[in-house]
Amino acid sequence: MEWTGVNELRERFLKFFESKGHTILPSAPLVPKDDASLLLINSGMAPLKKYFMGLETPPNKRVTTCQKCIRTPDIERVGKTARHGTYFEMLGNFSFGDYFKKDATRWAWEFITQDLKLPVDRLWVTIYLDDDEAYKIWTEEVGVAPERIVRLGKEDNFWEIGSGPCGPCSEIYFDRGEKYSCGKPTCGVGCDCDRYVEFWNLVFTQFDSDGNGNYTPLEHPNIDTGMGLERIACIMQGVENLFEVDTVANIMQHVCDIAGVKYKAGDEKIDVSLRVITDHIRSTTMMIGDGVVPSNEGRGYVLRRLLRRAARHGRLLGIHEPFLYQVCQTVIKENATAYPQLVENKDYIVKVIQMEEERFAKTIDQGMELLNSIMDRIETEAAKDQHRVMSGEIAFKLYDTFGFPLDLTREIVAEHAIEINEEEFKRFMDEQRERARAARAALGDMGWEGDVVSTLPGKTEFVGYEQMECDATITGIVVDNQLVDAVSEGEKAIIVLDRTPFYAESGGQCGDMGVIISGKCMFKVLDCKKSATGHFMLIG
Ligand code: SER
Repeated sequence: MEWTGVNELRERFLKFFESKGHTILPSAPLVPKDDASLLLINSGMAPLKKYFMGLETPPNKRVTTCQKCIRTPDIERVGKTARHGTYFEMLGNFSFGDYFKKDATRWAWEFITQDLKLPVDRLWVTIYLDDDEAYKIWTEEVGVAPERIVRLGKEDNFWEIGSGPCGPCSEIYFDRGEKYSCGKPTCGVGCDCDRYVEFWNLVFTQFDSDGNGNYTPLEHPNIDTGMGLERIACIMQGVENLFEVDTVANIMQHVCDIAGVKYKAGDEKIDVSLRVITDHIRSTTMMIGDGVVPSNEGRGYVLRRLLRRAARHGRLLGIHEPFLYQVCQTVIKENATAYPQLVENKDYIVKVIQMEEERFAKTIDQGMELLNSIMDRIETEAAKDQHRVMSGEIAFKLYDTFGFPLDLTREIVAEHAIEINEEEFKRFMDEQRERARAARAALGDMGWEGDVVSTLPGKTEFVGYEQMECDATITGIVVDNQLVDAVSEGEKAIIVLDRTPFYAESGGQCGDMGVIISGKCMFKVLDCKKSATGHFMLIG
């Protein structure tokens, strides 16, 4: 096998399956469309569920993709190990009721042994416990030696994620050699150590799961395969982990240049921070490129948490200025050929990251100071071996006043073996929500925005029955529930005008959408609501 770059590998995979009659589809955005069961796309098959379930007709019964994916259950471990990451790309070939096990296994083997030329004596295959059909195909049709096939249970070889299409699977492993072994006598395929890496999962999708343990056989079984692009790149490049493959290493190098440090120079703390930043800037650049903006809820919260975690690690490396917005430009550059829309949206992505960094930069040092003094106190006061707990009130203050996501605080105090009284934190959050709710109730059915808007002079004159557009004067701009003088690119805001043709949501009718144009600036209005005081709030 020959050293191959990430961008070339992606191309080679897609072209191979195109030659087998597959249509190449572009990666879907990370924000799922019409799928409330997922916060972010987490596998190649996720955006294709509609085809698997027969809800829509695919452009071809054979499709191949390289899909951007985010998985966040292990955020705290990212950086601490070199194995974990939140962002990766998944190469996949899919059959919607067309070919099944035989072709899927044959082609997988052909791609890795003939196209990529992986040495057969380093390859292993696993199958689901009682999947004799797969065993027969691997041994008789493909010609894999029976002793190279391992049967594993449901935990390893039955693929399902949430509800939807699922089934038994067969995985392909690469043996990285003795020196990566944990040395235990039981070490073999399926061992948790670094010797055998699983890099391709072939799922024989034959059931639909309702997410509660009920499996209905699908009329036409499907194929869903997923190969981690960065994993196969590690193998092809002979490097140890994702942080060392070409495109990712270039991103890390940019961080090293800014911080004036070196990776793997003997200081584990530096390495952890470098990995955190490198991983998180990849995922956040991609998320913003796909329309996610930082907020305190849902995917916006995931984004904020990743950006702020990365910003904190920047501080640990001694970087005291916003810098992530610079590193994201290397992410864009490294991904420019596969995702040209990143290049088109570059200014916007840079701006969103920079604004979030600047916002957090204002409070992070004070927050850290508070946190450090509290941790010192807990550490001096706590008797040896005593359970160390930080009050939920402090965690709430850090969240509310200093913008520390709870998970970030939890992670920092855990480094000092301290836990947060989360019950208490929750109580403070609930109380805050209750205060906000009461304030809203006092304003009729108005949202939070009314608090500030109601202080503006006059009312908005509605001209929408006669006109679709009009000239107007801005009477107020609200960002984050505060009156401000200006709004910059990428920011969410509410604009109040003295007159407007925008219809405000009421009586079951949606608010109008449109634009406000002033000189060279444009503000996209996504919704319009009316305050109890008669101000039309153009939200966008
Ligand atoms: N859905 C399977 C996975 O994510 C194969 O694509 O591993």
